[in-house]
Amino acid sequence: MDNHATTRVDPRVVEAMLPYFSEIYGNAASINHQFGWDASDAVEAARAQVAALLKTDADNLIFTSGATEANNLALKGVMRGAAPGGHLVVNAAEHKAVLDPAKRLSRQGFDVTVLPVDQYGMVDPQQVEESLEENTVLVSVMSANNEVGTLNPVDEIAEICRKRGVLFHCDAVQSLGKLPWDFEAVPADLVSLSAHKMYGPKGIGVLYVRHGSPRIKIEPLFDGGGHERHLRSGTLPVPLIVGLGKAAEVAGSEMAAESTRLRQLRDRLWEGLQHRLQGLQLNGHPDRRLPGNLNVSIEGVDGEALMMRLKEIAVSSGSACTSADPQPSHVLRAMGVSDALTRASLRFGLGRFNTDAEVDFAIDIVVDAVTALRNSSNGEQ
Ligand SMILES: Cc1ncc(COP(=O)(O)O)c(C=O)c1O
Repeated sequence: MDNHATTRVDPRVVEAMLPYFSEIYGNAASINHQFGWDASDAVEAARAQVAALLKTDADNLIFTSGATEANNLALKGVMRGAAPGGHLVVNAAEHKAVLDPAKRLSRQGFDVTVLPVDQYGMVDPQQVEESLEENTVLVSVMSANNEVGTLNPVDEIAEICRKRGVLFHCDAVQSLGKLPWDFEAVPADLVSLSAHKMYGPKGIGVLYVRHGSPRIKIEPLFDGGGHERHLRSGTLPVPLIVGLGKAAEVAGSEMAAESTRLRQLRDRLWEGLQHRLQGLQLNGHPDRRLPGNLNVSIEGVDGEALMMRLKEIAVSSGSACTSADPQPSHVLRAMGVSDALTRASLRFGLGRFNTDAEVDFAIDIVVDAVTALRNSSNGEQ
């Protein structure tokens, strides 16, 4: 139940990838023989599958090692490609893969604004508008928060940026494949995605970089063979790219039905917990949120003691996927949640392979753990 951290690779994706480890193993940049042509064909077919999910041209897509790299390329690449001292706008609830590049850019002399978020973790478009300066180059706002699932009004924010001639980047990792993406509604210039959040393999992602004018100038993170429009040098990992393509195709065809099912599963979990426990606080927006997300703080229990009792289910407290060193959630803190409730928060990310029976099992485990902890602390008093 920790599908916001990562997902199981769909068996259909594994099957599509397998031949590209053995029979079709060429280098997609080898232009003189059949092995290379076959690999290159597979890469371009996968690029088209991802483009179909985003409803865009395949030429706009740059393969990266994941969304961390895509976000770094978007932020550092665009800021370093623009005039020195440019202004970047991010917000306090972004993933570390946006906040940390922004911090580094600030240390390197760029002007960085970190906007606050409201009690749901949402960015206010008006605050974005007010933050724009003469020298603003780029605004970065995620589509869906990876901890609390809140959906940002990225349509309005992208439109504000477009009108003001400022570039807009969206980390769409958590919403792509779960909710439809539409460039007509969200005129973003740069979009990051990651395969392993949508039942594809780890280690592959995409940065969408809008083609056309005004041209987006990006300084690459690596220099080398000039792959991917000279923006991302390095031999392409063909099996991973094929897996991403297949994952995007499956997501595109199953998204609507899957989202309905996940919403029902999430509501079953939330209702089940609420029915049997007092003192629960929902974190994140009650309606504007990802279908499979439930982030809940539990009053009157110690967070660490609670996690110790939940070994039979895979959930995270705070966010396991944002950083390798566990810190109290910066997202909940930015939303104004107290330290105690932040520590006693559980994030459920329900996914494609979760079932009703698993949800019922999870409810029992959480209810038993919370009841035992509350009873023992009452006994101590
Ligand atoms: C919103 C968001 N952005 C970026 C990332 C980083 O993605 P990746 O693991 O592909 O580097 C994650 C997950 O870790 C995420 O949830």
